[in-house]
Amino acid sequence: MITGATSGIGAAFASHLIRSTDLLLAGRDAEKLEITRNELIRRGRKVETFAADLTDESAVNELVDRADAFGIDLLINNAGIGQFGRLIDHERDTERDTAMLNVVAVVVLTRGLLPGIIERAGKANERGGVVIVSSTAAFAPVPFFATYAASKAFSLYFTEALAEELRGDPVDILALCPGATKTGFSARAGLDRISVPGAADPGAVAREALDALGNKTVQVTGLLSQATLGPFLVPRRLVTGALAAAVRYFNARQS
Ligand SMILES: NC(=O)c1ccc[n+]([C@@H]2O[C@H](COP(=O)([O-])OP(=O)(O)OC[C@H]3O[C@@H](n4cnc5c(N)ncnc54)[C@H](OP(=O)(O)O)[C@@H]3O)[C@@H](O)[C@H]2O)c1
Repeated sequence: MITGATSGIGAAFASHLIRSTDLLLAGRDAEKLEITRNELIRRGRKVETFAADLTDESAVNELVDRADAFGIDLLINNAGIGQFGRLIDHERDTERDTAMLNVVAVVVLTRGLLPGIIERAGKANERGGVVIVSSTAAFAPVPFFATYAASKAFSLYFTEALAEELRGDPVDILALCPGATKTGFSARAGLDRISVPGAADPGAVAREALDALGNKTVQVTGLLSQATLGPFLVPRRLVTGALAAAVRYFNARQS
């Protein structure tokens, strides 16, 4: 089951996985989900959809029931949003929705679906999996992207801790931390004026994640993957100051 399967990295996961498995696709936009489903069912697999806004907790609980009934063995927590700019300039609901989708939905889906995933994998003598899509933004506090970066730090720490807890169980856990990737995310986040050179192809990002699942706990993708340790080696105040200056510089250049 893939959340946010209608576009970007989620759609890329679906394109890779349809070669080997049936799929349950979740997204907000029913029409887009149907289009994605129609493209994928040509491959001869069962594809079901679940259209709902996952900032709504009751929809997340419904999705847990639906995915358990489907009998999923791999959960890809991919749907995510963020809004660029100063927190105090945003609507309260914008920040709330970011936390609900990027944090609460991830925890509820993972907690709700892991028991079934582990049980089915154990019975079949195979391995289940959970992928949580975090971000390279998880590695430092990011001014002007405060809630988003903090939500991704949450998902990274959550995944790493969970992987250790479940080391003896037949399930593989992976945090995917993409760097800039060519999807609709930046435009939705209000970042369309800032173009990051060398942004990755979503198909390649999804492929790297699927190859990493079962071999490691954290997969960082993209040009800046080597720089993610940097924020841990210097004082925090320097990191946030440098990031804020970089954002102001790019903003000024592109406006
Ligand atoms: N692109 C990047 O540069 C980048 C970098 C690092 C991390 N990421 C992470 O990668 C993940 C996928 O993002 P993407 O880049 O592929 O962006 P995207 O193309 O904007 O896709 C986001 C997906 O999430 C779904 N979604 C958005 N709000 C939702 C809601 N309230 N309820 C249910 N589904 C919702 C969208 O579905 P609908 O269209 O149906 O609403 C869409 O399928 C996110 O977690 C993002 O934080 C992206």
